Amino acid sequence: MTPAGPVALVAGATGPIGRAVVRALASDGARVVALSRSGDQVRGCVQALACDLGDRTALDDAVSTVESTWGPVEVLVNAAHPPPELGTAVADLSARVLADQLAGVAAHAALCARIVPGMRLLGRGRVVYVAGASMARPLPGGGGYAAAKAAGAVLTRHLALEEGPAGITANVVAPGRVVDPASPREPSAHAAALGQELAQRITLPTFPSPDDVACAVCLLVASPALTGQTIWVTGGEPIAA
Ligand SMILES: NC(=O)c1ccc[n+]([C@@H]2O[C@H](COP(=O)([O-])OP(=O)(O)OC[C@H]3O[C@@H](n4cnc5c(N)ncnc54)[C@H](OP(=O)(O)O)[C@@H]3O)[C@@H](O)[C@H]2O)c1
Repeated sequence: MTPAGPVALVAGATGPIGRAVVRALASDGARVVALSRSGDQVRGCVQALACDLGDRTALDDAVSTVESTWGPVEVLVNAAHPPPELGTAVADLSARVLADQLAGVAAHAALCARIVPGMRLLGRGRVVYVAGASMARPLPGGGGYAAAKAAGAVLTRHLALEEGPAGITANVVAPGRVVDPASPREPSAHAAALGQELAQRITLPTFPSPDDVACAVCLLVASPALTGQTIWVTGGEPIAA
């Protein structure tokens, strides 16, 4: 039976974190629509939609489809991001690579612009942006990605300030290194070296999993009182934000 809970749109739903968020929100009773470029099915969703967030007409059409099929979107979780370009020093970053990364922020702004007006009419809403701890602790070769994530987080904190009076919360979840025990990815040489360094910084025995990130997302979705916050899901690595 299809649940009758709030309508949640998860962008970037086919990555390990997005999939975990879809599962967790669905098990909390939400009707979750999973959005990605491919439109691949995700366990727990009521519908999977293909949409390239860089195409504003496609974004508008996708949200219209959600609204006409399921009703207004009450929860937006944005875990979408272009594949990070890691390992390039800032002084070697091309304009194209930087623009690709910043397209993730532009997509976040466009998603909010399309969905938040409907939340205002509802008088409630939740926006969660999945950033990355690298936005607050520089690692070599991650400048373009970190700059994009920092910009997305700043947008989200402004959203919290502006939309609070309408009953809409907006928060950031910032994972550090995430390891999926179900299907560990073979990291690039650069990522493997950084992983070894980060392993020295965490206090817990293992890096967080996608389910751990989803747990933080669900907390922010459940709470009407938490807004303008950032939850660092790092496994205990201290972040001086
Ligand atoms: N994994 C980590 O260790 C880690 C750590 C810190 C932060 N994060 C952040 O957490 C989020 C999720 O990470 P992940 O590793 O689960 O993601 P991922 O495997 O890189 O997947 C990215 C997701 O975003 C979607 N996407 C990318 N560009 C898109 C576009 N233009 N339009 C629509 N969808 C688009 C992809 O769809 P397709 O599959 O169809 O391309 C996919 O669903 C990302 O924002 C990432 O930066 C991840």
